[in-house]
Formats: sequence, C-alpha cells, structure tokens
Amino acid sequence: MNILGINAYHGNASAAILCDGKLVAAVEEERFNRVKYAAGFPAAAIQYCLKAAGITLEEVDHVAVPRDPYARLATKLFYAMRMPSFARERAKVLVKFTGIRKALAAAFGANPEKLPAKFHRVEHHIAHLASTFFCSPFEEAALLSADGLGDFASSMWGVGLGRRMNIHASIAFPHSLGLYYSAVTQYLGFLKFGDEYKVMGLGAYGQPEFQKEFRDIVHLNGSGFRLGLE
Ligand SMILES: [Fe+2]
Repeated sequence: MNILGINAYHGNASAAILCDGKLVAAVEEERFNRVKYAAGFPAAAIQYCLKAAGITLEEVDHVAVPRDPYARLATKLFYAMRMPSFARERAKVLVKFTGIRKALAAAFGANPEKLPAKFHRVEHHIAHLASTFFCSPFEEAALLSADGLGDFASSMWGVGLGRRMNIHASIAFPHSLGLYYSAVTQYLGFLKFGDEYKVMGLGAYGQPEFQKEFRDIVHLNGSGFRLGLE
C-alpha cells in the first residue's frame, strides 16, 4: 500500500511517501526550487517521492493532507465573525486544501477524476502526532504536538498504543505557545515570521531574569496552559 502525504500552501511545503508501512522518502520543496521555507504546492517534492518509491501517481492508494476544514468548525466560525481579515487568510488555505486532488492531477498532467487514490483530510495536530508516533520504534508513548496554529488548535496530547492514538485534550486559538513565541520574537525586534529559532538559540545564553513577568503571560491551569492576553 502506497500512502502519499502532502503539506501544501504553507511555509515548508513538503511531501512524504510510505510504502507498505515504511517511510521511503520525505522532502521539502525548498530543496528543489531553492526558495527558503517555500510554500505553495510541492510538485517537485512529490515527484521526488514517487521516483524514490519507484511508483507512478496512479499507483498511490491514499493521499493525506494535514488540514481538516471541518475540525473545530464552531471556533473557526466564531473567529470569522470576530476577526474577519485574520479568518479570511486562514480560510483561503483551507479552501485550497479542498482542491488538492485537482492540484495534484494538474502537476502531473493527469485527469483528477481518474486518480485511483482515496483522499483524506487529517486534522493538523493528529497529523503531527501520527507522523512521529507511527514512524517511531515505540509500541507505547506519550504524545505531544505544540506549534503555532493548525485547524485553529495550538497543542494536542495523548497516548499512543500500538496502532492507535488516544487523544486526551487539545488547546484552541488564541492560546498558543507558538504564537506566544512569535510575539516575543517580534517584541525583541525581529520583524517577520521565521526568526523564532534565533530567539530559541539566544535563550540558552540568558538568565531567568523575567521569570515572574513571563509567568503572567503563560500560566498553567491544571489542564494545560492559558496566555495572559491582556
Ligand atoms: Fe503544525
């Protein structure tokens, strides 16, 4: 069974292929078009994956994308009303994902109706957790996904057991360690998204001088964390 994973329309667009449960290739589009953090549709990365697996697009059984427009739909609609421009930007990405079959067919000059693959929309953090747990050597593991935002959630955790993942909880927008990290990065004078790793590196040289202030910004509440939005 051949499974193609596509991360598209977002920084670090990439593709991965699993054949009979084994990860054969995983690569970012930036390696081919030489554009750092390249977004868009990763046609070259997909081509590379298929070549590495020695298969054609017609031999792909399943295609998975790490977005589910229906996940947390109520939260998405709520913020669409409260923050229309922000929601509009996020919605554009989600809408693009609904056309992934067409985009994939177009990249290979194929007829979208004739692709035998089944398409799956996987909730963003489930995809993060699955991509690590199911490729790990562990039969049992604690699972944690924490990033900026994906399907309007920022974090998710649970337990992996064999072929199953039991999700215990998730934290929804606007409470996000990733967005918090971006905010601090911008506060320090870095202007655009993508410099967070520099602050992370610098952090190792610092002392916890502002621990009290930071505890007011991120606080644990017993079941996760909240940001002090004020
Ligand atoms: Fe993510």
